[in-house]
Amino acid sequence: MSTLVIQNGTLVTALYSYKADILVADGKIKEIAPQFASTVADRAIDATGMLIFPGGVDVHTHMDMPFGGTTSADDFETGTRAAAYGGTTTIVDFAIQAKGTKMRDALDTWWKKAEGKVCIDYGLHMIVTDLGNSGLEDMDDLVREGVASFKLFMAYPNVLMVDDATIFRALGQTARNGALICMHAENGGAIDVMVQKALAEGKTAPIQHALTRPVRAEAEAVNRAIALAEMAGAPVYIVHLSSEDALNQVREARDRGLPAFAETCPQYLLLSIEELERPNFEGAKYVFTPPLRERHHLAKLWGGLKHDHLQVVSTDHCPFCFADQKQLGKDDFTKIPNGGPGVENRLQLIWNYGVNSGKISQNRFVELVSTTPAKLFGMYPRKGALEAGSDADIVIWDPEAEHVISAETHHMRVDYSMFEGFKVKGNARQVISRGEVVVENGKFHGKAGRGQYLRRHARGGAWN
Ligand code: URP
Ligand code: ZN
Ligand code: ZN
Repeated sequence: MSTLVIQNGTLVTALYSYKADILVADGKIKEIAPQFASTVADRAIDATGMLIFPGGVDVHTHMDMPFGGTTSADDFETGTRAAAYGGTTTIVDFAIQAKGTKMRDALDTWWKKAEGKVCIDYGLHMIVTDLGNSGLEDMDDLVREGVASFKLFMAYPNVLMVDDATIFRALGQTARNGALICMHAENGGAIDVMVQKALAEGKTAPIQHALTRPVRAEAEAVNRAIALAEMAGAPVYIVHLSSEDALNQVREARDRGLPAFAETCPQYLLLSIEELERPNFEGAKYVFTPPLRERHHLAKLWGGLKHDHLQVVSTDHCPFCFADQKQLGKDDFTKIPNGGPGVENRLQLIWNYGVNSGKISQNRFVELVSTTPAKLFGMYPRKGALEAGSDADIVIWDPEAEHVISAETHHMRVDYSMFEGFKVKGNARQVISRGEVVVENGKFHGKAGRGQYLRRHARGGAWN
């Protein structure tokens, strides 16, 4: 395998920023030193004026996922290639246990979906829909296969939702096997009553999706998830947290010293509920759960990121095309497939609206988009670090590069962008995955199928 030296850049880690060169060999960071000669490696990249980050780690994506009568528009090839363009070199996607079947079957199915397609390294969480008789042992089996986290749903009754007893049993099992439970925290029962009432009143437009999922439904479920985790003696990770009310629950738990963690996503930091009222059914582009909130929540979420009440920014990338898939709900908002695209734009958006606007530091940025997700999900220091011995997953970031986000130019296989027309400053110039330059000069140079499955370790950062 060829060697590479990156010269004259400024390394930005979760802790420090400093000038140094990086020598890469055998897909790993071999050495970091003040200066290397260009001749030390087969190829030298001059990174003068550039910042160097560990590759982005997005721990919440849904490639090729069956949902709402259709399948998410990006598969493991198109989705991970788009991720790489944006500086993300690792994703953790979700396999879904079909009710009444073994989780192992779902793992095999998702490995097959990724095989020959995935362009960057990937891990898998398991969505648990049924613990049955052998479900707890199944969880242990999966942990041995590197599935060190499980997602459970408190929403979507009769589809994905599980009851409190199931959640509590799963949490108890992780207290023994060291995995991490991820919670989709919304009170599905109460929401369903509100949804049925809206439909009975003939209210079918996309905005009803948000109006029938109030912030209290999220905050109540977050509170319950944390209480169940506390009783079980296990950490818990709240996914796609969207509101101040939910954030307050996490903050209070953390103030009490509980191992409660949460992520938010760019859409909750940058968009608000009015998007669902766009004319010509375009509000459907913004239908995902939890829904977009009133504008005043946005500043609170940014504050949460700054003060470590929130630990991670992921995308919940789950694209459905407007032209055919979102249209499934033209006459009934409950039939709009829930989800939106974003895996490509996470670093650009958080850099521009977080770092450039002074809300978070460069180091906090790296912590949120790379280092902490790698730690919490059992991948650190292989991922999320610029250290000798880590995988050479490296982003060479041009802080001056300007870019207008648009569906016309993005690489995700979806016909719209939630951030259409957003102007961002700061973009990946080169993206390196295990020592291979996969993105350069706006072109993808990697091969589909080159990505590797990551066997993640249990008792990651949530247990410290
Ligand atoms: O609407 C969403 N978030 N779709 C993806 C599934 C999930 O709940 O994460
Ligand atoms: Zn969810
Ligand atoms: Zn999701």
